[in-house]
Amino acid sequence: MSTTKKFLQNIKKHQETKKVEKFCGFLEDYLNILEEDQNVSVLSHKRLFNQIKSYGVTTLDETNDRCNKLFNGETVKVYNYFADQFFGMERSLEKIMRFLYSAAMKGEESRQVLLLLGPVGAGKSALVEHIKYALEQCDPLYVLDKCPIREEPLHLIPRTLREGFETMYSIKIEGDLCPVCRHRLINEFKGDYTKFPITRSEFSIRGRKGVGVVPPMDPNTQDTSLLIGSEDISKLDLYPEDDPRVLSLNGAFNVGNRGIVEFVEVFKNEIEFLHTMITATQEKNVPSPGKQAMIYFDGVIIAHCNEAEWNKFKAEHTNEAILDRIVRVNVPYTLEYEQEVRIYQKLIDRSDFNYHIAPHTLEVAAMFAVLSRLKTSNKVDPLTKMKIYNGGEIVEKGLIKKVDIKDLRDEVEDEGMTGISTRFVMKAIDAALADSTKNMITPISIRDALIKQVKEQIVNPDHRNHCLGFLQKTLHEEYLAILEKEITKAFVTAYEEQAESLFNNYLDHAEAYVNSTKVKDAVTNEDMEPDEKFLQSIEEQIQIKGSAKNNFRADITSYMFAKLRRGEVIDWRSYGPLKEAVENKLVASVRDISRIVTKSKSRDTKQKKKFNSMVQTLIDNYGYNEDSAEEVLKFASNNLWRDS
Ligand SMILES: Nc1ncnc2c1ncn2[C@@H]1O[C@H](COP(=O)(O)OP(=O)(O)OP(=O)(O)O)[C@@H](O)[C@H]1O
Ligand SMILES: [Mg+2]
Repeated sequence: MSTTKKFLQNIKKHQETKKVEKFCGFLEDYLNILEEDQNVSVLSHKRLFNQIKSYGVTTLDETNDRCNKLFNGETVKVYNYFADQFFGMERSLEKIMRFLYSAAMKGEESRQVLLLLGPVGAGKSALVEHIKYALEQCDPLYVLDKCPIREEPLHLIPRTLREGFETMYSIKIEGDLCPVCRHRLINEFKGDYTKFPITRSEFSIRGRKGVGVVPPMDPNTQDTSLLIGSEDISKLDLYPEDDPRVLSLNGAFNVGNRGIVEFVEVFKNEIEFLHTMITATQEKNVPSPGKQAMIYFDGVIIAHCNEAEWNKFKAEHTNEAILDRIVRVNVPYTLEYEQEVRIYQKLIDRSDFNYHIAPHTLEVAAMFAVLSRLKTSNKVDPLTKMKIYNGGEIVEKGLIKKVDIKDLRDEVEDEGMTGISTRFVMKAIDAALADSTKNMITPISIRDALIKQVKEQIVNPDHRNHCLGFLQKTLHEEYLAILEKEITKAFVTAYEEQAESLFNNYLDHAEAYVNSTKVKDAVTNEDMEPDEKFLQSIEEQIQIKGSAKNNFRADITSYMFAKLRRGEVIDWRSYGPLKEAVENKLVASVRDISRIVTKSKSRDTKQKKKFNSMVQTLIDNYGYNEDSAEEVLKFASNNLWRDS
C-alpha cells in the first residue's frame, strides 16, 4: 500500500473516533441526562480536578527511597497525569492540586487566582500547557445553542424554580443567562425556555473553546476587549445600540468560560487591565462591553510570572485588592540532580538531534545547575549539600554523616528560585554538540561549553565567579573521582565478585576481632588469628586509624548482624562507609596498572591487551562508544594520577 493510502486510512480512523455524538435537544433531555450523571454540570474547577485525578493518584510512601530520604517519610501524593513529564516537582504539583481540590469543593479557592511563581525556565508555561491539555481531554460540554460563552443550560431555569430544583436534583445552579441568550429567549422563543436548543461542544486550546489566554500587553495598546470582548461596529447599523446582538463576546474571559483563563507573565500588564480579575474571581461576573449587564463567569484563572515582577507588584500597596485574591504556588527549580537529568533527557528526546551522550555527561551538567541554585549552608559544603538533596549518604571518617536534610532546608528560605536554568544548560548542550566533530557530547565537552557560556552570559561578576568555581574546581574534581572509579571497574575483571569477596573477608575478620575468636581459613580449614594487616588495609581507605578501628569494627558487625536477623540480605553495598572503603581499595589496587597502561605512549603486548580489554569493557558495559572512551581516557591520563 502506498504511504498516502495508508495515511488516508489513518485520517478516516481519526475522523471516526473524533465524531462527537451529535446532540441536539432541549431542557427536558438535558434534565434526563443530569439525573443519570451529575458530573455533566459541574463547575470548572471540579471538572478540571476530576479530569486530572482520573489518570490516577499514587503516593511516594515509605517503600520509596526518595520519599524517605527527601521528604522525611511524609507521604507525597503523585498525580500520574504529571508524573512522566514533570520531574522533581512533586511539592509544587501537590500544592496546585490542593488548590484545585479546595476550589472544586467550592472553598474560598474557587474565588481566587492561582499564581505560579518561579524563575525562568522552571516549567511554569509547560505546566499550564499540560493543565490546559487535560481540559481538552474532557468530555464535551452541554451548552446553550449558539451561546458565545457556551453557557450552562441550567441557566434557563428561572429563579423561582431553582430552590425546588436544588432539593430534587441536589445540584446548585449558579449564574444567569448571558445577554445574548436572554435576548434570544425573549425574541425567538417568546420566553419559553423549554424550547431553547441545547447542544454539545468540545474544549479546544487552538479553537479558543473553554481556554482563554491573555498574553502580556504593551501598555499603549492594552485594551479590555482582549478580556471581555467588544461591540461589533459593523453591526451597530443593523441593531439598536443596546441590542445584545451587537456584542462580540470573544475576550479571554468569554472564551475561557467553564474552562481556563491563563494570564501569561501576568504582572507585565498595567494594573487597570487586571481589575476584571477582581470581579471575575470574587463576584464571578465580568463586565460586558457596551451597556449590557454583567456576565456570569465560571473558570479556573491561572497566572504565572517570575519573582522580580511579583516583588515589584507586591510592593505597590494599591495592588492589595488583587493580592488578596491570589493563591501563590512557588515553582522552583528542582534541587535533585538526578531529576534534573530526567528533564534534559526529556528535552533531548524531543529534539531531532541524534548523537552519542557519554556516561555522566548530563549528570555533570545537572550537578552544575543544582550547585548554582543552592544557598550557602553553615553545616556542609555545597557539593555535600547537593548530594544530600539528591538522597545520597555522606560518608566521613568511616561514619555515615548525620546531616538531616530537613535542617538544611530550614536553614534557608526560597531555595531553588535562583540559579542556572534548564534552558541555559540545554543551550550549552547544543553548543557542545555543534563544536563536536564526532557527533557526541562528553562530560568534558559539556563542561567546556558551560564555562564558555558562563563567561559570555553571566554579567554579575560574583555570580559568574561562583559558577566558574563550581565548573573549574568542584566538578572537575568530582568528575575525576567518578571517572577513576569507572576506569578501575573496567580494569578489574569481575569487579562485583572482587568487591563481594573483599567485603566478606573483611566481615569475617572484623567479627572474629570483635568477639576475640578465630577465623577459619577457607583452604586449609585451620583456625587463624584475624588478619590485622588486611583489616587495616581496608580501613585506611576511609581514614580510620588508631583506636577508631575498634568502634568501626564493632559497629559494622552489629549492623550486619541486625540486618541478617531481620531476614535482610546483605552485600558489599549494604553499609555506606564499608562500600566506599572496598571501592577505594579496589581503585588503589589497580591504580598503578591503570596509570601505567593508560598513560604510556607505547605499550608492550601485555599492556596493550590489558588496555584494549579495559576499553572494550567501557564500551560494552558502561555505555561509552569508541570515541567517547578515547576522549575520557585521554582526559584521565592528563588529569588523574598527577602525583606519580
Ligand atoms: N521540573 C521539570 N520537569 C520537566 N520539565 C521541565 C521542568 N522544568 C522545566 N522543564 C522544561 O523546561 C522547559 C522550559 O520551561 P518553561 O518554558 O515552561 O519555563 P517557564 O517557567 O515558563 O519560564 P519563563 O519564565 O522563562 O517563561 C520546558 O520545555 C519544560 O518542559
Ligand atoms: Mg513561560
